[in-house]
Amino acid sequence: MAELYKNFIDGKWRAATSGATFENRNPANRDEVIGLFPASTAEDVDAAVQAAKQAFAAWRLVPAPKRGELLYRVGELLRQYKEDIARGMTREMGKILKETRGDVQEGIDTAFYVAGEGRRLFGETTPAELPNKFAMSVRTPIGVCALITPWNFPMAIPTWKMFPALLCGNTVVLKPAEDTPQTAQRLIEILIEAGIPSGVVNLVHGRGEDVGAALVRHPDVQLVSFTGSAAVGREIASVCGQNLKRVSLELGGKNAQIVMEDADLELAVEGALWGAFGTTGQRCTATSRLIVHRDVAKTVTDALVARAQKIRIGDGLDESVDMGPLINAAAREKVLRYIEIGKREGARLRSGGGVHDAGVCAKGYFFQPTIFDQVKPNMRIAQEEIFGPVLSIVEIQSFEEAVQVMNSTPYGLSSSIYTQDVARAFRAMRDIEAGITYINGPTIGAEVHLPFGGVKDTGNGHREAGTTVYDIFSEWKSIYVDYSGKLQKAQIDNN
Ligand code: UN1
Repeated sequence: MAELYKNFIDGKWRAATSGATFENRNPANRDEVIGLFPASTAEDVDAAVQAAKQAFAAWRLVPAPKRGELLYRVGELLRQYKEDIARGMTREMGKILKETRGDVQEGIDTAFYVAGEGRRLFGETTPAELPNKFAMSVRTPIGVCALITPWNFPMAIPTWKMFPALLCGNTVVLKPAEDTPQTAQRLIEILIEAGIPSGVVNLVHGRGEDVGAALVRHPDVQLVSFTGSAAVGREIASVCGQNLKRVSLELGGKNAQIVMEDADLELAVEGALWGAFGTTGQRCTATSRLIVHRDVAKTVTDALVARAQKIRIGDGLDESVDMGPLINAAAREKVLRYIEIGKREGARLRSGGGVHDAGVCAKGYFFQPTIFDQVKPNMRIAQEEIFGPVLSIVEIQSFEEAVQVMNSTPYGLSSSIYTQDVARAFRAMRDIEAGITYINGPTIGAEVHLPFGGVKDTGNGHREAGTTVYDIFSEWKSIYVDYSGKLQKAQIDNN
């Protein structure tokens, strides 16, 4: 019998009120059931939101440095259980162990970084314009935050949202992706072990249409933080807009790496392989386009094709494997559809293009690393997010054209340029429309102490991580203290 998991509401583990469950299976072997999780409904969401609302009254008054100390303990526990969590995560969502260890490490880095911010939640003090009057600004918490998180970084992304939210004094309801409920469960267990008070953190499993939608609509949820597709992001934003709710969105990407003719080509090829096929291409930051100068296009493409064919595909728990499966059957169908679209549009398939189901891979959602060349910038495979191991190579003739192609998609998350020319590097930093630009590095590899997010359809102007995440999870309050003992009128007394 598969293990039965529960929601965590108001400090207690509880089944969904409907009693219904859904299965979580290993994408490398669909016969392996990881567990049964509650298929929750609006009723469970309401219980979690009420618990979070009640807990807010006390949690907002805990000094921020103390809230930070609790998060520090969470970081220590994450470090202690890192290997075990990574193994569970690989079973649950398929990426290789090196990457799931990195995912947990990103959570550890976030915990320690945010913990320190408990003593640095600075506001400003400034002279008032009137005598015997003092002025300052402070950050105040917002209330109940709904965190709706994806499956591709099942530890890192919940921690990016949850730790800053808690540090600022908010309480939270986490709705993790249906494909990775177990990693979320591990995170909650650690918070409990670290001593999180009842109701401050709540976990509700279930489908986006049920749990996510109920959270977004709940009148006592003050803020929604979502990472996922642009289509769902738009729906969430419109509901939040109607209700004047704060909403922070991290959506899709169509990230590109530029390779100029003066680049270190070996380095550029290595970067493109990691950017395109790491995490089986299932990162928001994945390299899905390579914009390469005509003079070096053949060399770079041939090298990439040769190296892609050597990528070892298989179960991520096997340390000799380079690339795990896609997340589920729907993802594999979607990638297959884009392969057909690419061929129909006239791009040339140079490598891969099909499922990988030989031998031990027969029961998983494996896919070959795929490379198209002769791709035109306006083709769908160069414009739309595929979220799989598919790289589209576009040839250009100049730096200006490279930047123009780079900027020609609706998205603007990550970007990269390989060049030895410092002037080109600086022009790229200035002219590329993206939230993240790498010089001589791949499009993946964001660190937790810098802002993370993108421009255009990638989001709605917020940045997670860094010091900017506190602008998502707190309100500014300006405070004036008049100790003159008389009525003083700003703007008017100064005439
Ligand atoms: C994501 O793909 O949603 O830079 C997050 C990176 C990781 C984070 C990716 N540190 O690829």
